[in-house]
Amino acid sequence: MIQAIRYEPGTLWLLDQRRLPAEEAWVACSSVEQVARAIESMVVRGAPAIGIAAAYGVALAARRLAQGVGDAPVQGAAEGAVDRAIRRLADTRPTAVNLHWALARMEERYRRERDAGAGLGELAQALEAEARAIQEEDLAMCRRMAEYGADLLPEGARVLTHCNTGALATGGHGTALGVIRTAWSRGRLRHVWVDETRPVLQGARLTAWELLKEGIPHTLIVDGAAASLMRAGRVDAVLVGADRIAANGDTANKIGTYMLAVLARHHGIPFYVVAPWSTVDPALPSGAHIPIEERNPQEVAGYGEARWAPEASPVANPAFDVTPAELITAIITDRGVLRPPYEEGIARLAAEAGRATSAAPERRG
Ligand code: MRU
Repeated sequence: MIQAIRYEPGTLWLLDQRRLPAEEAWVACSSVEQVARAIESMVVRGAPAIGIAAAYGVALAARRLAQGVGDAPVQGAAEGAVDRAIRRLADTRPTAVNLHWALARMEERYRRERDAGAGLGELAQALEAEARAIQEEDLAMCRRMAEYGADLLPEGARVLTHCNTGALATGGHGTALGVIRTAWSRGRLRHVWVDETRPVLQGARLTAWELLKEGIPHTLIVDGAAASLMRAGRVDAVLVGADRIAANGDTANKIGTYMLAVLARHHGIPFYVVAPWSTVDPALPSGAHIPIEERNPQEVAGYGEARWAPEASPVANPAFDVTPAELITAIITDRGVLRPPYEEGIARLAAEAGRATSAAPERRG
């Protein structure tokens, strides 16, 4: 299984996604700042993977403190370092809510350990265990979603996907790509159309790389080819991931997703969003409130040192768009498949999650 995030006490190893598929190179992070920069520069990317990396970043902060001053009480000189780490990591990428979900969980664990009088060594161990639990739980959630999603596809399905939602973007297996993996292993899938996903090419570079490793039949297409493939009757379903889902089901995902949803509706093709509960933000009433990251114009205007657009042409580079809930056939979560009206399903799951948290506070780590 592809595992792009590995941790050993004091070092977070990240498979450098900027260099795939040409090279499988690893980046070692031993400080919060290194983790934050790895997230910003997309060494690690994909909503769940960003959350997992950030959680390990918080653990690294505590580990470094423990190495510096031994097992002193958390109160005192160390107080504030974990808070600063959380604030720095929260600032890296604005759209994926998994980042904030994971950091909130790390903060809760930190406060619990501090209030219980833990020493710095114990705190570091506890935060490492919490980050590891977040990673392992994400893999388990992906496997559950994959089972639910594969059940929805017709025999011999030809699916179209956008961006990279695979093992690279998660704790393993993947969200939309996890459904594709499981459908393939069940003999239910015939073909995958892979959008190249301009401008960072997560589809061409990363999804194609993952599918090739698994021997899953696929064809890479430019993003603009989706409409004519649908019209020709060569797409049975669209499967995408998500970076944030609002309380009404509006879904932020990689730029170009909304366009696919409009096309799928026009051609009568089911459009499925696959995302774990950590991607749902029940506090946001609608997609209008989701912050959309604007990235460096150079990603669109050229590559590396090369610039193909005229120097004087202004460039817009929104990294995500919001698909309105009414265009989504179903949202496949690890807690079950939601159908419209999404307000009801999301409110029910939020209430259940609230009960689960207060009923089982020792569940983590
Ligand atoms: O900018 P990225 O590569 O982090 O964007 C990733 C996506 O939009 C994915 O579709 C989303 O995070 C779901 S990943 C399981």
